[in-house]
Amino acid sequence: MTAQHPPLSAEHVDLSDTEFWGWPLADRQAAFAMLRSLDRPPFFAEPEFIFDTGPGYYALVRHADVVEASRNPEVFCSGKGATSIIDLPVEFNEYFGSMINMDDPRHARLRRIVSRAFTPRMIQKFADDVARTAAGIVDDLLETGPCDFVEHVAARLPLTIICQLMGIPGDSYNMVLRNTNIILSGQDPDLISEDMDEAVGQILTAGADLAGLVTALGQERAAEPGDDLVSALVTANIDGEQLTTAELASFFILLVVAGNETTRTALSNALVLLTDFPEQRDLLLADIDGRMAGAVEEIVRYVSPVMFMRRTVTQDYRMNGQEYHEGDKTILFYWSANRDETVFAGPDRFDITRSPNPHVGFGAAGPHFCLGAHLARREITVMLRELLTRVPSVRAGGPPDRLLSSFINGIKRVNCDFSR
Ligand code: HEM
Repeated sequence: MTAQHPPLSAEHVDLSDTEFWGWPLADRQAAFAMLRSLDRPPFFAEPEFIFDTGPGYYALVRHADVVEASRNPEVFCSGKGATSIIDLPVEFNEYFGSMINMDDPRHARLRRIVSRAFTPRMIQKFADDVARTAAGIVDDLLETGPCDFVEHVAARLPLTIICQLMGIPGDSYNMVLRNTNIILSGQDPDLISEDMDEAVGQILTAGADLAGLVTALGQERAAEPGDDLVSALVTANIDGEQLTTAELASFFILLVVAGNETTRTALSNALVLLTDFPEQRDLLLADIDGRMAGAVEEIVRYVSPVMFMRRTVTQDYRMNGQEYHEGDKTILFYWSANRDETVFAGPDRFDITRSPNPHVGFGAAGPHFCLGAHLARREITVMLRELLTRVPSVRAGGPPDRLLSSFINGIKRVNCDFSR
């Protein structure tokens, strides 16, 4: 990809243009820095889609705006869609996004039921699985030799853990990965058709395949419960609350998609960062246990695997000098908030000792804050510790092949090398 000249003014930047998301990272960062320097949140027309083109959106590119919108769900709601800028039918949003696309009281009810499974205690129970899986991945890596890090390392841990957590049989793992890749393919023609009708069909089929898998599993577990999350969800009936079959299917789609693509993105970008910033890598290697927690937070800040979520304004509201009106769309750009120079000194510096690090990579405080944050932190910690302890020379062997997406800051392939 050829480098663009850093854009000088707002008219050079269109966040709705797919091409923008193919610009080199440094140029996109420069564009967001310019947008943050504007007096007001910039407004963009919406990308064209087969459904009616909507009214446009405000890009919330500053940390303060992202934080305030996240903690005011009555004003900045998720029920009209959190994961898509364009309006999609409510049924579509709920089918694919479950509670991430809902407001209270429905959101609170679902979150209450499922969050029982996401306590630190439950994650502790899976700690052994995470450690064993990470060790097996490194065993295989040493046997395979230099290879595509995404396929052989970064994708494997989150996939195995989320499937084990749900009790999905091993022979379905690849089918789960294939379908979550399609659902979060962004605009990347390697993964999804460029024809919009066809692309919608591919996404619906991917969702239906995942729903079919969990519905069958749910029936089996209802009859014969095991020690997994699906069993807990189909048998839980606390205060008369239980998931319906449709709710279970949608929650499953949300979990496998959210649990796979995000953590994989953090891990594959981590390899690139530890290669591009050798002094940070040396710092980490010098005290892996002491510096890992800071490194994980800085990776999530710097990478921002989920680049945005949307909120829709429910009533007239003034925020940080800007008037919003009922029906306005706002896009919370975590990726930009995490580089806000008024909050992070030297925001483009990858600094594993950064403290404090009030990043919003898992969302800002509010009812939708990432349910899997504990699990993701543990997976990244354990995988990197295993890798750096046993293969300390591991590095990216070339530039990454990045996913073309405005939503996930993904890497499709990046070679790793540890021959030196
Ligand atoms: C580095 C990895 C991860 C990142 C960066 C990430 C990021 C996010 C973000 C930005 C949100 C939206 C927050 C908001 O709207 O305020 C979110 C929500 C969510 N995440 Fe994660 N996530 C990660 C890993 C995971 C994992 C491993 C799981 C599950 C196993 C998970 C499950 C969820 C769920 C269920 C929600 C919706 C919560 C709600 O709507 O109440 N995430 N995540």
